[in-house]
Amino acid sequence: MSFPTHRLRRLRRTEALRGLFQETRLTARCFVYPLFVCPGTRVKDEIASMPGNFRWSVDLVAEECKSASDLGIPAVLLFGIPEKKDETGSGAYDADGIVQRAVRAIKKAVPNLLVICDVCLCEYTSHGHCGVVKNGEIQNDPTLELLARTAISQVQAGADIVAPSDMMDGRVGRIRAELDARGLTEVPILAYSAKYASAFYGPFREAADSTPQFGDRKSHQMDPANQREALREIELDIEEGADIVMIKPALPYLDIIALARRRFDVPIAAYQVSGEYSLIEAAARLGWVDRQRLMMETLLAIRRAGADVILTYFAKEAARLLGC
Ligand code: PBG
Repeated sequence: MSFPTHRLRRLRRTEALRGLFQETRLTARCFVYPLFVCPGTRVKDEIASMPGNFRWSVDLVAEECKSASDLGIPAVLLFGIPEKKDETGSGAYDADGIVQRAVRAIKKAVPNLLVICDVCLCEYTSHGHCGVVKNGEIQNDPTLELLARTAISQVQAGADIVAPSDMMDGRVGRIRAELDARGLTEVPILAYSAKYASAFYGPFREAADSTPQFGDRKSHQMDPANQREALREIELDIEEGADIVMIKPALPYLDIIALARRRFDVPIAAYQVSGEYSLIEAAARLGWVDRQRLMMETLLAIRRAGADVILTYFAKEAARLLGC
C-alpha cells in the first residue's frame, strides 16, 4: 500500500513534528575542540588558512579552554608547535615541552575539561616526518619507543587521553604496554586508526608547521581508495588495546564511519579536519554558501554516519548555536 494512504510529509509539516521525529541529534557533548599551542606569552595568532582558529601561547590557552568548557564542550585536543625541531622530535617527549606545559596549565585552570594529546612526532622533527628517518625511509620499530615516551610524558603532565596519530604499526600496543608498566592503567587510548593520506590536512600543516621536507606520508597513512584496509586497521588497533577508534578525515569518508559503526562496538570518533573546515570558510567568504547551515549539516552527517565523537574546529561555534 502506498499513496494516498502513506504520506511522509505528515511528519514534516511543522517545526515541532520535525523536531520530535528527528533521528539524529547533535549535542556539544560529542565535540572535541582541537587547539594549537605555541611558544611565547600573550600570543593569539590567527592561522591564515583557518580563520577563526589560532595558535595560543600557554598562558592564553587555558582561557580559551575555559570558554569552550563553559559552552558544554567536554574535551580539547592539543597540538604543539615547539621552539625548535630536531631529527628525533625530542620536543614531543620533553617533560617541559610545549604540550606538557599547556596540559599542566589547562588542568589547573579547568580541571573537569578532558585534555587529549595528539601523539606524533611530525610537528617536532626537523624533516617533518612522523617517525625516525633512515636512508630516506621512516623506520617503524625505532619510532615506537619515541611515541611511547611522548604518550607517557603527556600523561605524566596530566593528559586524560592519548591519541596516537602517526600510523606506525604496533604503536597502540606499545603505548598501552608502556603506560601499564608505569601503573597508568586507567588512561584511555584514542587511536587514529583509519587515517588517510589526505590533501585535506593542508591547512593543518601550515598551522602546525609540519609539512614534510621531502616525500609524503603515503608509506604510513592510508590510500583513499581503500575501504577493507580501514577495517583491518581498526580491528588491529582494538586488539592492541585502543579504547576509542578514529576515522579521519570525516566527511569524505562517511562510508568508512558507517561500516565501522556496524562492525565494531567500541566508541567511534571522526575528525572533521582542517581542510574540511577551510573549504566551508572559504566558500562562505565568497558568499557562495550559507556558512552556519553548512557547518551544522556536515556535523549532523558525520554523526548520522555513526560517529559518537566529532573532533571539529567548529566546536565552539556549533556549541553556541546548539545552546547546550
Ligand atoms: C599528525 C596530525 C595531522 C593532523 C592531525 N594529526 C597532520 C598530518 O597527518 O599531516 C591533521 C589534522 C587536520 O588536518 O585538521 N600529527
